[in-house]
Amino acid sequence: MCADEKLIDGKAFARRLRHDLHEQAVALHARTGVVPTLAVVMVGEDPASAVYVRNKVRATEQAGMRSVAHHLPGDTSEAELLALIATLNADPSVHGILVQLPVPQQIRRDAVLDAISPEKDVDGFHIVNAGRLAVGRRDGFIPCTPLGCLMLIKSVRPDLAGQQAVVIGCSNIVGRPMARLLQQEGCTVTMTHLRTRDVAAEARRADILIVAAGRAGLVRGDWVKPGAIVIDVGINRVDTPAGARIVGDVAFDEVFPHVGAITPVPGGVGPMTIACLLQNTLQAARKAAAAT
Ligand code: GUN
Repeated sequence: MCADEKLIDGKAFARRLRHDLHEQAVALHARTGVVPTLAVVMVGEDPASAVYVRNKVRATEQAGMRSVAHHLPGDTSEAELLALIATLNADPSVHGILVQLPVPQQIRRDAVLDAISPEKDVDGFHIVNAGRLAVGRRDGFIPCTPLGCLMLIKSVRPDLAGQQAVVIGCSNIVGRPMARLLQQEGCTVTMTHLRTRDVAAEARRADILIVAAGRAGLVRGDWVKPGAIVIDVGINRVDTPAGARIVGDVAFDEVFPHVGAITPVPGGVGPMTIACLLQNTLQAARKAAAAT
């Protein structure tokens, strides 16, 4: 196998998905008059969040959908943010609502997530959608990053039944929903985290290894079973003599010779997150159009 064939090109996959979603959005509009609309709310000036929000707004518009950006000052109170969410919940022209995380410390994250209507929760973070996924129902929104990871995994291994999957990191944004999704695909899933006694030993058993730990270069060459699929969710900024670089949670050069397939950073999981956000927004708009 040539080296390139082992690289899972998330950028190209996401481009195709966004192209398909654009066609579907145009068709929905022609059929029903509905333009899928995403409200993106950001509180404060976190520079990384600002970049993510800009990219989400741009991608939404490129996909034939509408975006409404709300940028609130960093000293916004929880009550003010909840009032905006209530307005967006009640607005029938808004199909998806996303509040960029993290929110400033005077605002309780869970109060925000609880306030978003589950039918507009295109991030899939509301407890109702998390619960739907946890019990194996397919009528909720699935968080965008794990949904994108699953698409990439299935692009190289369509049938996952019986596979050993190991997830490193158990956040509500990636690790937990990822484990649920893989379980639904028939994998035997091990969830590991900071207090796992020997993460390397767990990782070595994985046919599919998902790494979302937020630690640059955590996964070394000898952590990986030959032929494993490795999905690197990490986005870490590191300073090198040649300048700042973005690297994943996997020591890519060490791991690459052993894997069956691997996502690069950048250009792997990252582009899929936004594409899946657009897919969820289209799904929300379709449901709203069917209900009217
Ligand atoms: N912050 C980091 N990732 C995400 C995400 O997927 N959605 C939101 N709303 N905030 C984030």
